[in-house]
Amino acid sequence: MTQLEQEIARRRTFAIISHPDAGKTTLTEKLLLFGGAIHVAGAVKSNKIKKTATSDWMEIEKQRGISVATSVMGFDYDDYKINILDTPGHQDFAEDTYRTLTAVDSVIIVVDIAKGVETQTRKLMEVCRMRKTPVMIFVNKLDRLGKDPFDLLDELESELGIAVRPLSWPIDQGPGFKGVYNLYQEKLDLYTPSKQTVTESVAFDDVSSPELEGYIGPGNAARLREDLHLIEGIYDTFDTETYLQGNLAPVFFGSALNNFGVKELLDCFVRIAPTPRYTKAEERLVRPEESSFSGFIFKIHANMDPNHRSCIAFLKVCSGKFERNVNYKHMRLGKQLKFSAPTAFMAQKKSVVDEAWPGDIVGLPDTGTFKIGDTLTGGEDLHFKGIPSFSPELFKYIENADPLKSKQLNKGIDQLMDEGVAQVFTNQFNGRKIIGTVGQLQFEVIQYRLEHEYGALCRWEPIHLHKACWIESDDPQALDQFKRRKYQFMAFDKEGRDVFLAESEYVLRMAQQDFEAIRFHFNSEF
Ligand code: G4P
Repeated sequence: MTQLEQEIARRRTFAIISHPDAGKTTLTEKLLLFGGAIHVAGAVKSNKIKKTATSDWMEIEKQRGISVATSVMGFDYDDYKINILDTPGHQDFAEDTYRTLTAVDSVIIVVDIAKGVETQTRKLMEVCRMRKTPVMIFVNKLDRLGKDPFDLLDELESELGIAVRPLSWPIDQGPGFKGVYNLYQEKLDLYTPSKQTVTESVAFDDVSSPELEGYIGPGNAARLREDLHLIEGIYDTFDTETYLQGNLAPVFFGSALNNFGVKELLDCFVRIAPTPRYTKAEERLVRPEESSFSGFIFKIHANMDPNHRSCIAFLKVCSGKFERNVNYKHMRLGKQLKFSAPTAFMAQKKSVVDEAWPGDIVGLPDTGTFKIGDTLTGGEDLHFKGIPSFSPELFKYIENADPLKSKQLNKGIDQLMDEGVAQVFTNQFNGRKIIGTVGQLQFEVIQYRLEHEYGALCRWEPIHLHKACWIESDDPQALDQFKRRKYQFMAFDKEGRDVFLAESEYVLRMAQQDFEAIRFHFNSEF
């Protein structure tokens, strides 16, 4: 194997996603503890922004600044190099999470045993399904009373739209929680509710042995045998290939806070989770093993301090080896660029690196050179696709509040949109600009940044819209007719694509019914 192939084979790049409070931060922290990347619990605090009141976004941004270092956490575990990409806990930054999902090869979903599937999880899973990202599920908080595990599995299947297969099985829950039977490794993991210690486990491949009673008592033993029998009856044996195709999610049970079931999850994860996968470019599929470097920018993190207007652009390496001080082609600008201080993220530290491999994330200091979705290559003309925009949920007209500063305002809007803070739509009829976001907070962020970074003042005016849909049709006449009929509600997105702004669900449904030749898409990647 070449060094490149070896580096690819040992890499696992993934994101942990969950509804706020399910235990994502806690699980991340325990994984870092196993990797020896941190030594004390309580070191990972990046997601605590969700606890801040939504109106206090300055505080949120301050903490987001701190969380740059924890945006990507790399660590070594056994012979593996693991990259965890952090996703914002606050739902107003969901768009950030969608983009991060374009840079990972797999996902771990955390679900609270008591709460089951919650809204945010459902939405993020839609993105995974769209991209066929392999997912693993960790059912958390077994030390508390929650749903019946069989009911929960049914809920996961129906709510997340993916087949599931338990690879561990809980023995009671809440105060009576005794541990899990690990179906993947055929062992009994016994629970001792002591935080920050690794649990003890016993190899146990024959659950019919009377020794089981000795460990978990007669009632639990009988129940476990019955449950395992049922599982065999209901679920097919676990098939790694089906998981890798994104069609089957293995499920683990545990308690992240008590460090229970986490190592088991990690051990299975490193074994079955995908190595860096191919990336789709407009021109062709790019395989990680190709010797020539390529990568794309999936996230730009602005520094909120007006005295240091620098950003960090996050580059995902897709193929070949990335090297410091080597010239690469910036496709959109058609320019050669080299980087003297690219950073890698190990544990919670940022440090300058000389090289990076497929699956790795590199931080590039940026002063406005990058847009989300930009491609860098070793010379070949490639354009990576797949940083989709999703229909925003909130819309407002943005108006200039200082007529002398309209140039600054337009520049500011353009740059903030390139950075992915929100989306802008230009009404085709009257030219007014509409900003679409997924959360109220972004409007405040935009207004503040326009004023402090661009010296421009804006004003928001209400507009009542339900969704933005990207439209297309094979029939140009039908498309034309639709656009003429809906001329007041047609807009261009920032790439100049046609977008229909539907006022309400009803209007949208009627439009879908009346114009059968038109296809309506709720994301820009179709
Ligand atoms: P998030 O990133 O998904 O939003 O969740 P986070 O890890 O912050 O966890 C949310 C809350 O759930 C935290 O409590 C955390 O301690 C708790 N938690 C996580 N895993 C478990 C578990 O296995 N069992 C139990 N019982 N609780 C768990 P908090 O009180 O909100 O925060 P903190 O003050 O403990 O940090």
